[in-house]
Amino acid sequence: MIPARKSQLVFYRDVSLYTKVKDGQYALYKPSGISLCDMRIDEERHPNVLYIKKADKIRGIQEAQKGFNRELKKDIKAGNQEKVKETLVNIVEETLTEPRSGSLEGVSETVDILVSDYASEFNVIKSLLDVSSKDYTTALHSINVMALSIGFALHARYSLSEAKVLGLCGLLHDVGKSKIDHNILVAQRRLTNEEFEEMKQHTILGYKILHKCKFSDKRISLAALEHHEKLDGCGYPDGKGIISETSQVLGIIDCYEALTNDDRPYRHAAPPFKALEIIKNDVRAGKYNKDIFSDFIQYLGKKDV
Ligand SMILES: [Fe+2]
Ligand SMILES: [Fe+2]
Repeated sequence: MIPARKSQLVFYRDVSLYTKVKDGQYALYKPSGISLCDMRIDEERHPNVLYIKKADKIRGIQEAQKGFNRELKKDIKAGNQEKVKETLVNIVEETLTEPRSGSLEGVSETVDILVSDYASEFNVIKSLLDVSSKDYTTALHSINVMALSIGFALHARYSLSEAKVLGLCGLLHDVGKSKIDHNILVAQRRLTNEEFEEMKQHTILGYKILHKCKFSDKRISLAALEHHEKLDGCGYPDGKGIISETSQVLGIIDCYEALTNDDRPYRHAAPPFKALEIIKNDVRAGKYNKDIFSDFIQYLGKKDV
């Protein structure tokens, strides 16, 4: 048995919930087929912690994703931008805790919703980037990269389906970090060489996870593998100089997002103009594609108008 996330309990319909009774035993609290709301019990009167069977975890995530997606649609319509961000963080955090086939595909619908509503609800995506958070997690970074990717794609006149692919690449590019030691991810000091070597593995691990998923577009797993590669062959994991275009776009957006938001004691987050200056030097050094970079600058210029 594992504890169920409180924010998701209302979405569990076809997942049974259990409560802990004496001597470490569990008793059925809510059977599959009904929801907690159907039980007509005051919210506060439910036990503080409810449990699900480990085997139900993926199904639970799928139900929660569907529920969150329904909420997301409502929040977008209502223009409730802070709630949109909160809902997204919930979906993404939950999905990244169990990153494998069956749960990762669920975020595809989430990106669909955001891309289709982009034209009418432009401010929603824009505001995803405006809300900063104190605890900068992989989930938040991934959401920011996704929002920038969708915005960039639509600015660069990609089709809606191409914008969706780029958004998914952005949302899932760091999924391999879920397999990296947490202490390395949150280290408030420079990583040792050994730790950095382990960190680099998130590209290969992410590729392996996404490769097993049922995404029809192979660029999604490829972007996880290639987003730290550089055109001059100095990137990782393979140090190859030929990189797919989607991964090149994502590489620039990922770098910009991390430079402007990832604040650590030894390396402070940079203001946008400074981050662009740093990337510009890398473009001059042949690491990034010049044309993609200038399109990205144009997009950022427009975004802030
Ligand atoms: Fe990465
Ligand atoms: Fe990243």
